[in-house]
Amino acid sequence: MKIGVAKEVRPHEHRVAATPASVRKYIELGYAVAIERGAGLGAYIADEAYAAAGASIAPDFASLAAEADVLLRVRPPLTAAEGGPDEIQPLKDGAVLIGMLQPRDYPAHLALYAARRVTAFALDHIPRISRAQAMDGLTSQSNLAGYKAVLAAAHEFPRAFPMMMTAGGTIAPARVLVLGAGVAGLQAIATARRLGAVASAFDVRAAVKEEVESLGGAFIEVPPMEEMIKETDGYAREMSDAYQRHQHRLIAEALKVNDIVICSALIPGRRAPMLITAEMVGALKPGSVIVDLAAAAGGNCALSRLGETVEAGGVRIIAPHNLPSLLPIDASNLYARNVLNFVAWLTDKAAKAIMIDWDDEIVRGMLLARDGRIVHPQFKGAA
Ligand code: NAI
Repeated sequence: MKIGVAKEVRPHEHRVAATPASVRKYIELGYAVAIERGAGLGAYIADEAYAAAGASIAPDFASLAAEADVLLRVRPPLTAAEGGPDEIQPLKDGAVLIGMLQPRDYPAHLALYAARRVTAFALDHIPRISRAQAMDGLTSQSNLAGYKAVLAAAHEFPRAFPMMMTAGGTIAPARVLVLGAGVAGLQAIATARRLGAVASAFDVRAAVKEEVESLGGAFIEVPPMEEMIKETDGYAREMSDAYQRHQHRLIAEALKVNDIVICSALIPGRRAPMLITAEMVGALKPGSVIVDLAAAAGGNCALSRLGETVEAGGVRIIAPHNLPSLLPIDASNLYARNVLNFVAWLTDKAAKAIMIDWDDEIVRGMLLARDGRIVHPQFKGAA
C-alpha cells in the first residue's frame, strides 16, 4: 500500500502531515511513501530529507493522488467550488483520506467524499478518550495555539510581562485573563506564568479549577457552582441565561484589573460563547490586548474580526488565523506523530495494510464517509 502526503495549499497553512521521521516509521510498517513536491517547505523540510528517509517525490498533486492508497493531509482538500484545483476528484476510487477535515466548516465536502467513494477520517473529530490521546490532532495543535497566543499578545502589549525591580523603579507584572481553560487556555496560563505575568481564568467546567491552580493561575468561580459542568465527554455546553448574566458581570469586573485577555472558550458544534461585548471592551485599560482564538467560531469578543487587528478605545483585539501554523516545525512534528499513531493503530502488522474495525469507538467518531455514503451520525443529513 502506498501512503501519499499532500502539499497544503490553503492560505496561512505552513504545516505538513508527515516528517522524515514519520516516513521512516511508515516504511518500517511496510508502506511505500510518496511526498508531493515541496510539501515540507513551509515547515523547513526539503524534498531531499524525505527522499533520504525513503520516500519518492511526486511532481504534483494529480500524480500523488493517482498513486496514493492513503492520503495524509493537514487541512481539508480544496474543491472546484472553492476555486480549486480540486483535491477530491483526483483521489483514487476507495482511497483513505486522513486529515483535520473540519466537516462543520466544509459540509459540502462530505457528499464529494462519498461520490468519490473515499474513506474519510477527520482527525479533528477523534473521541476524547485516553487511548486516542496520542492520535488527537486537535489537542496537539491547540496546545501550540495557546502558547503562541500569549506571545502574540506580548508582542502587541506596550508594557513588559514580568515584574522588574530596577534602580529606576519597579514595573508591575502584566495581568493575563484566560477565558476558557481547555487545552489552549491551560497552555496560555502556563506560558503567561513563564513570562512572569499574573494569570487568572474562567471556565464552565468544574474540573478545570484544579488544573488552573496547579499552573499557578487563579480560578474565578461563577456561582452557583452547581451549574458548572461535571465531566461528561470533556466538552462544554451552553449555560443558562442566569449563569451567563452572572458570568458577564464577573468578567466585566475582571477586565478592569487585567491587561491581556486570551479568549479560547468553545462549544463543539455551536457558535463560540460571547463573553466580551463591545461595551465590556471599554472596561480594559488603554494599551490592553485581547487575543481571540475563538474568532473562527464566531469569537468570544464582539469586536473580533478574523485575521485582523481591531483597535477600540486604545485596546487592540487580535483574531489570528491558524496560530499553530506559525510554529510550523513543532506543529508538523506533533501532527505527523498524531497521524502516524492513527495509521499504525489501523495497520494490520501481518498484512502490512490498513484494516479498519468499523465498530471501534475511535473509528466511528472520526469516520465521515465510506463506500459511497456519508456515515457520520452528526453529518448524515448533509447527503
Ligand atoms: P474546547 O476547545 O472545546 O473548549 C475550550 C474551553 O472553553 C473548554 O475548557 C470549555 O469548557 C470552555 N468553555 C466553553 N464555554 C465557556 C464559557 N461560556 N465560559 C468559559 N469557558 C467556556 O475544549 P478543548 O480544549 O479541546 O478540550 C476540553 C477538555 O477535553 C480538556 O481540557 C480535557 O479535559 C478534555 N480532553 C481530553 C482528551 C483525551 O482524553 N483524549 C484530549 C483533549 C481534551
